[in-house]
Amino acid sequence: MSGKGGVGKTLIAGGLAASLVKRGFKVLAIDADPSPNLALMLGLKASEAVKIKPISEDKDLIQRKTYTGYPGIYRLQFRVDDIVEEYAVDTPLGVSLLVMGTVKGAEGGCTCPANALLRVLMRHLVVERGEAVVMDMEAGVEHLGRGTAKHVDYMLIVSEPSYRSLSTALKIHELSKSLGIPNIQAVGNKVSGPGDEAAIRKFFSEAGIPLIGLIPFDEAVVEAERAGSTPLLLSNKSRAVASIEALAEKLVGKIEKTA
Ligand SMILES: Nc1ncnc2c1ncn2[C@@H]1O[C@H](COP(=O)(O)OP(=O)(O)OP(=O)(O)O)[C@@H](O)[C@H]1O
Ligand SMILES: [Mg+2]
Repeated sequence: MSGKGGVGKTLIAGGLAASLVKRGFKVLAIDADPSPNLALMLGLKASEAVKIKPISEDKDLIQRKTYTGYPGIYRLQFRVDDIVEEYAVDTPLGVSLLVMGTVKGAEGGCTCPANALLRVLMRHLVVERGEAVVMDMEAGVEHLGRGTAKHVDYMLIVSEPSYRSLSTALKIHELSKSLGIPNIQAVGNKVSGPGDEAAIRKFFSEAGIPLIGLIPFDEAVVEAERAGSTPLLLSNKSRAVASIEALAEKLVGKIEKTA
């Protein structure tokens, strides 16, 4: 999941992950946003969420995995399956959560050990594990190396009807394409009426980016957040959450068809 700030990535990533659990998948959600908050969306309390340490900030772990004893030289091959066992947190929605954190400057050729660790871990999660993996990203795609990118089933770019978020979606599309991600699709969120829907459809159709789903603006989502709870646990199902579940169904159908 990627897209401009505030467009609804975390709601949709969390909602998809929770829907996949309901469908019987083992699901790992990865928070790769620099200011992580997927934990709250997945039903953890703020007091529990603050205790989760992002992997990229765990200096001991990074040292343990990549240290060679020679300054400026670090290891690129190491076990990462144990990191998942050790760091994944169970959430009330049945999704396991890994908080990655970020390493700045990856696209600029940064080769620091923390970045190496994240990339090896991402590759393991996406390519080697037989689980459903849902990743909440920022606008960038820096956690994915080329070798990993081509194994991503779907990159969803979330956008609101605003022209600014739509044009950010275009930039992310270019970046994702150049990285070799095969299926890049748009999701329109916070759709308040036919005008919004038309604007989103027109933009993506002209850009040649397939639109896989539209999610309505839903006051129930806003209310839940105001009350300090996750919209994903509302007893009266919100329209937005129902649309996200429908999106999960569509994605599973498409992935199974091509498998
Ligand atoms: N369909 C919707 N209807 C109403 N409110 C929504 C909807 N989708 C998202 N929101 C609200 O918009 C805000 C941003 O959503 P969210 O945190 O999911 O976006 P984000 O893209 O992850 O943001 P960030 O870039 O800050 O991580 C939240 O307050 C959320 O409740
Ligand atoms: Mg977010």
